[in-house]
Amino acid sequence: MKVAGSIVLVTGANRGLGRAFAKALVEMGAAKVYAAARNPEAVTLKGVVPLKLDVTSDEDAVAAARVAGNINLLINNAGIARPGGFLADGAVEAAREQFEVNFVGPLRMARAFAPDEERRRRDHQRAFCCKLDERSGAGDLWCIEISRMGA
Ligand SMILES: NC(=O)c1ccc[n+]([C@@H]2O[C@H](COP(=O)([O-])OP(=O)(O)OC[C@H]3O[C@@H](n4cnc5c(N)ncnc54)[C@H](OP(=O)(O)O)[C@@H]3O)[C@@H](O)[C@H]2O)c1
Repeated sequence: MKVAGSIVLVTGANRGLGRAFAKALVEMGAAKVYAAARNPEAVTLKGVVPLKLDVTSDEDAVAAARVAGNINLLINNAGIARPGGFLADGAVEAAREQFEVNFVGPLRMARAFAPDEERRRRDHQRAFCCKLDERSGAGDLWCIEISRMGA
């Protein structure tokens, strides 16, 4: 994947790794970097285009795809960790929340940005990087599947 000249969207780009990815992409010569965040005002990086996006929101994903539908690369970085173990208090709620953000979020984004099979087949330049996470073996496999569907 050639970054120079690419149009990229990074989710969770207001801090942490997402911010670092967005910064590196600008430095590597990406033509445009959409820095998506739940609170776009928290995006302080120069040279990026802030975009409001909560990956748990269908409405936000569709709106983002309307604005940034011409991206070549989607980096599904946004994610949460709710450590505590399977038997801890609130483990079911924590699992649901993580699943919604870390698994359904990338799925929602892939679907919003590549809505039909025909478009995916046509556009071989389009690449989708999904969140890969060592915390859950099953999650890894599913995320890789989404990545293949979107690529
Ligand atoms: N750092 C590590 O060692 C490590 C290890 C394994 C996996 N990861 C994964 O790598 C990714 C980045 O890690 P990090 O260390 O940079 O995490 P981080 O500092 O906690 O940042 C997480 C980012 O995701 C955003 N986010 C959370 N929920 C969101 C939602 N519903 N919609 C949109 N954005 C949301 C956060 O936005 P807010 O500011 O609004 O909360 C923040 O920008 C995460 O997915 C994490 O799970 C990191």
